[in-house]
Amino acid sequence: MTEQRKLPIVVLLSGSGSNLQAIIDGANDDLPVEIRGVISNRGDAFGLERARQASIPTRVLDHTDYPDRETYDQALMELIDSYQPALVVLAGFMRILTPGFVTHYQGRLLNIHPSLLPKYRGLHTHQRALEAGDRVHGASVHLVTEELDGGPVILQVRVPVEPGDDEATLAARVLTQEHRIYPAVIRWFAEGRLKVTQGFIELDGKTLREPKIMEFNQVSTE
Ligand code: GAR
Repeated sequence: MTEQRKLPIVVLLSGSGSNLQAIIDGANDDLPVEIRGVISNRGDAFGLERARQASIPTRVLDHTDYPDRETYDQALMELIDSYQPALVVLAGFMRILTPGFVTHYQGRLLNIHPSLLPKYRGLHTHQRALEAGDRVHGASVHLVTEELDGGPVILQVRVPVEPGDDEATLAARVLTQEHRIYPAVIRWFAEGRLKVTQGFIELDGKTLREPKIMEFNQVSTE
């Protein structure tokens, strides 16, 4: 696939960047994306190092340098737009986004969240699943809307909760599955199979009325 046909994306993160790594690994294989930039609100995010290792331009935009959320998000939008991405990928970007930001990227802003949404929006999802006694947990890739972790879900992976799990073991099991579903959705978008019009998601020409589900360790999503 030629460089021109690759979907230009920007990835935003705050931490380890293992989801970024999955996308980098995909792009090194046959995932048709060009990661034009990686932006973090934290200078110490390990994800920046992963990007540098892959020769991807990185930028740090420290939220503590800005007086309020609106000013930060405005600067962030300008920085993102300088890379002219067709898709903005939130990969562990631990910031609440302003309505202005979300509206600006409507239909081309994806997030991954470590729960089977609409369950467990917000933080501490693994602990909450354990405390609820759930036998099945998981992760979701969704479109971002103004509602926190509330946008339409595209693909979920179901992950078993094992007896004796603690937050760390469960989080690790979910994370390895995140690395499968995020590149899968990005591929659908890049290949033109996934389209968003006025908040509605179309996959392969059909309105997606409920999330696609991937089972634990399932080999492919088609
Ligand atoms: C992932 O588990 C992702 O789902 C979660 O942060 C982690 C980032 O890991 N995102 C959220 O909780 C967003 N609300 P990574 O930095 O190794 O990709």
